[in-house]
Amino acid sequence: MPTIVEVDRLTRRFGSRRGVTDISFDIAAGEVFGFLGPNGAGKSTTIRLLLGLYRANSGRTTVFGLDPVADSVEIHRRIGYLPGELALYPRLTGQRHLDGVARICALTDYVYRDELVERFDVELDTPVHTLSKGNRQKIGLVQAFMHKPELLILDEPTSGLDPLLQDEFVRLVRETADDGRTVFLSSHELDEVQRLVDRLAIIKDGRIVVTDTIEHLRRQAPRTIELHFDHHVDRHRFDGLSGVRLIDHTRGRITLSVTAPIGPLLRLIAELEPIDMTARAADLDELFLEYYRKDRDPEVVDAE
Ligand SMILES: Nc1ncnc2c1ncn2[C@@H]1O[C@H](COP(=O)(O)OP(=O)(O)O)[C@@H](O)[C@H]1O
Ligand SMILES: [Mg+2]
Repeated sequence: MPTIVEVDRLTRRFGSRRGVTDISFDIAAGEVFGFLGPNGAGKSTTIRLLLGLYRANSGRTTVFGLDPVADSVEIHRRIGYLPGELALYPRLTGQRHLDGVARICALTDYVYRDELVERFDVELDTPVHTLSKGNRQKIGLVQAFMHKPELLILDEPTSGLDPLLQDEFVRLVRETADDGRTVFLSSHELDEVQRLVDRLAIIKDGRIVVTDTIEHLRRQAPRTIELHFDHHVDRHRFDGLSGVRLIDHTRGRITLSVTAPIGPLLRLIAELEPIDMTARAADLDELFLEYYRKDRDPEVVDAE
């Protein structure tokens, strides 16, 4: 699969404030790639670098193999972009906005646009300043998708959409990927990303802490095992096992978090003769929170 987006050791500072530091990732054609991180992590900054709206202090990025600043006209023609803070003209209607974009990207086939307007129940006839945030967001979505661009760059796309429309959005992204086109989307919500993407990068304090497939992350995610005993068991019996962490210990009950293959633990458990055991499936939330929690230095650029 050809590489559609390439980000190589990209750094952007804002005075003493951290934008993004030394980030790298690639997105292949047809992928749905997620960019997950809390507010202020650097998601929008990265997206603006990809769009040539910011220049990098160091590092390199290409979109379709092109340079975001030098080739911005060509890149913008081939992408659909939904900004994190959608700027619309307050007095114009949704219809006028869509017509404007249609002209810019020389749209000739309106069938797909009309289909999207219908599916998302977009309000086209009133000035956008009278619309709710969710209704404005829907206009932004149609603007981004209507010309079937090769690459969609969506900055927190479902913010303000009600749950029903979020489901519709999931379908839209899947169709786009099935069509061989590429989607890059940012979010601060794991649930949303989990539902949508094949692969993701987690960004925190301007640095990428992990890039992996959802599938593989899930396999690494901690499983919770709870053991019940009718006799006393020393909590330190589990100390030597790698990938096993004691998270709770009360009379008759021991709770463990397990990230390693389970064989050695099962042998030990058998020796301890519990009266019952329950195991809970891998929880991506816990893994994700662990990445979020791991403390880094405060928001000041490291001394160089
Ligand atoms: N235009 C800017 N001027 C100054 N600082 C900025 C600017 N844009 C981003 N930053 C800094 O970069 C950090 C990351 O911001 P942003 O990329 O908007 O985060 P996210 O989109 O993940 O919420 C912010 O904490 C802020 O300090
Ligand atoms: Mg943002």
